[in-house]
Amino acid sequence: MVKHFIDIDNINSKELREIIDLAKKIKKEHKEKGRSYKKHKSLLENKSLAMIFEKTSTRTRVSFDVAMNHLGGHSIIMNKADMQLVKGESTSDTAKVLSRYVDGIMIRAISHQTILDLAQSSEVPVINALSDFSHPCQILASIMTIEEHIGSIQNKKIAWFGDANNVLNSYIQGAKKFNYKLVMAIPINSNLKEFDLCDSEIKKAQMAGSDVTVVSDPKEAAKDADVLVTDTWFSMGDSSEYNDALKHKKLNVLTPYRVTSELMNLANENAIFTHCLPAYRGVEVEADVIDSDKSVVFDEAENRLHIQKAILLWSMS
Ligand code: CP
Ligand code: NVA
Repeated sequence: MVKHFIDIDNINSKELREIIDLAKKIKKEHKEKGRSYKKHKSLLENKSLAMIFEKTSTRTRVSFDVAMNHLGGHSIIMNKADMQLVKGESTSDTAKVLSRYVDGIMIRAISHQTILDLAQSSEVPVINALSDFSHPCQILASIMTIEEHIGSIQNKKIAWFGDANNVLNSYIQGAKKFNYKLVMAIPINSNLKEFDLCDSEIKKAQMAGSDVTVVSDPKEAAKDADVLVTDTWFSMGDSSEYNDALKHKKLNVLTPYRVTSELMNLANENAIFTHCLPAYRGVEVEADVIDSDKSVVFDEAENRLHIQKAILLWSMS
């Protein structure tokens, strides 16, 4: 069976845990032995990864590329604009053709459906490197980082602030798999459909017995939290991207949910701040928080490299 990495929900807890533990082991060996460690160089020797980007990226693009290199493989980066996809070749034909050349396909897609369609026709593993719906690679790297700093994520209180978006959907799906408590301070009854993206995942998770709750008061979310997390208020492809009035409205609604030092001070003494980056200081988070010693955002960015290797090995080796 082809092992696609599309959503946290589709992979069982045991395998998710194995991916994170493998990433921790690979990171340790990488630090001790360096980037040309022979053992790592043989793991994906002669394997190729096609990377399709329909949206911009810094971390995902570079970490997957470098990961393939460290594992002895090779990657091909393709922006959609340079592919026949842009002229109307079907996703299905693209998947069938790429399957004849490469051993895996990573895609950052505008629409989640494109990833599902690609996987449907692909004979090689497809990795979701972000869609409008989710960002599963990211949250595994974030969980790995949280555990490096404050120990097992089990029973920890994770407090999310601000927009309801793709990254949050992956955190919601992770709650049951990793047994953490997720409290989301996100706008309720804002009358902006932009905030509805996570509604069905929240309901699904609650029905399945996950410890996920929505609160309107950010202070309630921050109180005794172990992790404070946020993300940009304006995701790529957000409907406010080319609509200034909507952007202004969204800014107004979200301003009370900015992560501030005041919120950080309500959290546990050892609490950390995480953010998948790119971050916008003074918008979703105060500079005093993201640039403080409670912030682990650059470890989190580094861990994308180690987690990508574990995901590639899980799906392609
Ligand atoms: N966090 C993340 O996915 O970053 P990029 O958009 O730079 O890849
Ligand atoms: N929610 C953000 C994440 C960027 C890594 C976006 O989709 O743009």
